[in-house]
Amino acid sequence: MTVSRRPMIAGNWKMNGLKVDARKLASGLARRMKKLKKPVFDMVICPQFPLIGLAADAVKGSGVKIGAQDCHFNTAGAHTGDISPDLLKNMDCKYVIVGHSERRSDHGEKDADVKIKAEAAITSGMGAIVCIGETLKQRDAKRTMSVVRKQLLGSLPEGANAKNTVIAYEPVWAIGTGKVATPAQAQEVHAVIRQELGKVLGEKEGNKVRILYGGSMKPGNAKELMALPDVDGGLIGGASLNVVDFWAIAEATE
Ligand code: PGA
Repeated sequence: MTVSRRPMIAGNWKMNGLKVDARKLASGLARRMKKLKKPVFDMVICPQFPLIGLAADAVKGSGVKIGAQDCHFNTAGAHTGDISPDLLKNMDCKYVIVGHSERRSDHGEKDADVKIKAEAAITSGMGAIVCIGETLKQRDAKRTMSVVRKQLLGSLPEGANAKNTVIAYEPVWAIGTGKVATPAQAQEVHAVIRQELGKVLGEKEGNKVRILYGGSMKPGNAKELMALPDVDGGLIGGASLNVVDFWAIAEATE
């Protein structure tokens, strides 16, 4: 990783945790973060919507940032059960994960949906963490690069830049399975993503965009993944639900 890109460690809590768990996890991370003189990484935690206020209170003043796991593409209106990006911003969210493979598979979200959600998050003043990644079937059919390219170009928000957009490469076959991409597999895809970003945003801006790896990242494999030239951090599911493990992953960025 080049020095110009500040690593990001983002915890995707998914549909896990009650109030007591969220309070414990968020305050445990905040306590550790406060002890650092000068953190060399950005830390983001993304709880379920109703836990966002509580988590934001628990991390106040620590530098730990709050993110959401999705948002609607409109800021308000008749959309029962959906969440406004303006409200998320108002609740102190700094980022929104969009296009996670579980949203794509559970809710049929397509690249075009992901793109407008990312644009809405940015318009409301947050950053978008745009997720892309191939299934095992697509990898086995040697379609990884074409799938990832298509998803990237279709999901990338208009006006994307290194400040408002983070890309998360998450091979679907590695999510929650314990099967992590090898360093070579991760770097190969990250390099292609960076190349494509360079074409769309210009090489200089493309070089500044952070590309996170996600999929069974754990304390035991984080260091070698994070050391790769185009891996700028992680989007972590399972291991983000444990303070010690998540913190150990963050420390692997150093
Ligand atoms: P995992 O999930 O770390 O549990 O594999 C990652 C993700 O889905 O963001």
